Amino acid sequence: MKLNFTEIDKNVYDHIKSNKEISFEKLINNLEEDTDSVRRSLELLKDNNIISEQIKVINFYEISEIGKVAVKEGLVEKHFCDYLKNNVVKVSELKDLEINNFSKNDCSLAFGIAKNNNLISIEKGVIVVKADYDKLINKVLDNLKNIKEVSDQKVIDALLKRKLILKKQMTEKRYTFLEDADFEVVKDNTLFLSSKLLKSGEYKDIKFKEYEVSKLPKPKQIGRIHPLRQIIYYIRDLYLEMGFKEMTSPYVETSFWPMDSMFISQDHPMREIQDTFYLPDKGTLPDKELTGKIALVHESGGKTGSLGHQYKWDIEAAKQLVLRSHTTAATYRKFYELTDEEKKECKYFSIGKVFRNETIDSTHLPEFHHAEGFVIGKGLSLAHLIGFIKVFFKKLGIENIKIKPTYNPYTEPSVEVFAYLPSLGKWAEIMNSGVFRKESLEPYGIEGDVIAWGIGIERIAMLVYGKRNIKDIYGDECNIDWLRSYTLPPRKIK
Ligand code: PHE
Repeated sequence: MKLNFTEIDKNVYDHIKSNKEISFEKLINNLEEDTDSVRRSLELLKDNNIISEQIKVINFYEISEIGKVAVKEGLVEKHFCDYLKNNVVKVSELKDLEINNFSKNDCSLAFGIAKNNNLISIEKGVIVVKADYDKLINKVLDNLKNIKEVSDQKVIDALLKRKLILKKQMTEKRYTFLEDADFEVVKDNTLFLSSKLLKSGEYKDIKFKEYEVSKLPKPKQIGRIHPLRQIIYYIRDLYLEMGFKEMTSPYVETSFWPMDSMFISQDHPMREIQDTFYLPDKGTLPDKELTGKIALVHESGGKTGSLGHQYKWDIEAAKQLVLRSHTTAATYRKFYELTDEEKKECKYFSIGKVFRNETIDSTHLPEFHHAEGFVIGKGLSLAHLIGFIKVFFKKLGIENIKIKPTYNPYTEPSVEVFAYLPSLGKWAEIMNSGVFRKESLEPYGIEGDVIAWGIGIERIAMLVYGKRNIKDIYGDECNIDWLRSYTLPPRKIK
């Protein structure tokens, strides 16, 4: 099939053909055509395999701001040598030497340069300037001014070291002629409709060049939402859809909130350095009324009928600052703030970072995310919790789950939820949950029953994106191409 060329297409074609190979810059300069039109012609020729395009990276050097000042005001060694010509300076005096605008530091720098470049010699402890120093310095200045023409790498390196020039890079496009085209030049193959053509009515007789609408533009790299953040939004939306309200709490907490406030005993293994990140300082606790109630429930069970932990609760240990190891701290902060109405019925959620002193492996990181939630209501039980688990994960598209009894110091009964990770070929824990014990509710005056849980966001992300390793989703080992191209699958994970 014959190709339709414009005059410009033909010019570009002829020019590349006769040169065999040419850079974009040269082509533009030689042809004196509008740049955009030349680009369009190049695309046409490339598409039809008449020419090929090569992109070359070219290094070049440019005078720096420091270099410009040196050209204007003279190089340091020039000032230094000029001074030496008129003054006797001993090497021993060098360390205290200051010349006009030059500090001691500048002078010792200038001495080094002058010495390396053979501008000076030392005779009997006196610095003597050589007769032809000006000539040598001017050569450096000349090189600096005409750095584009300098090819001696030694000269370039010396100037680079002195930061008088900068290394730059540019890309150059080159075009190579491949093969003859079968074409005809269509005279009125006009590209643009102008107001002149419209007014004169000429446009009616003109054949306009057709647009190529079947080609996709080159993809642009723009910022995207991180895949993990995407899951967070997804879960957040789910909670909001189900009528939950959001709660938050700080990363740095006194041990009180993520531990004491929820009936975790002060000798519980979770408090150990291996599990929790401790900070050196202590923080402040809420009012005495609450800490008193917490002390009582730990020591003797308070009015709950429980015996408590049967020890002396240490208020100082509760002040110790830690990085929160679960977002259940947000739940207990919320319990402390609830209105009387809410103490009977409400539902809250929180999504955020948690920190644990974990050994890193394919499913563990020391910093990860929890999606916490609780519901207060009359008569809530394990049955409701299991009902919630099934509905929630179904909404997330996760149906292949197993529910298993477990132990938490603050819930009874407690259950863990496992999901099958096809990417790993094994079951992984995605949630821990339970019905809060009376001892963890009584200090807050909560009368209703409370079901609560914490969901591991990273595990959900591994499931959703089918990744084998948590580091493939989060952190510096994550593949940037995947981050740029990932898609969020529909809510249906088998
Ligand atoms: N805090 C628990 C965890 O870190 C999750 C949980 C929250 C369990 C609330 C029960 C109740 O895994």
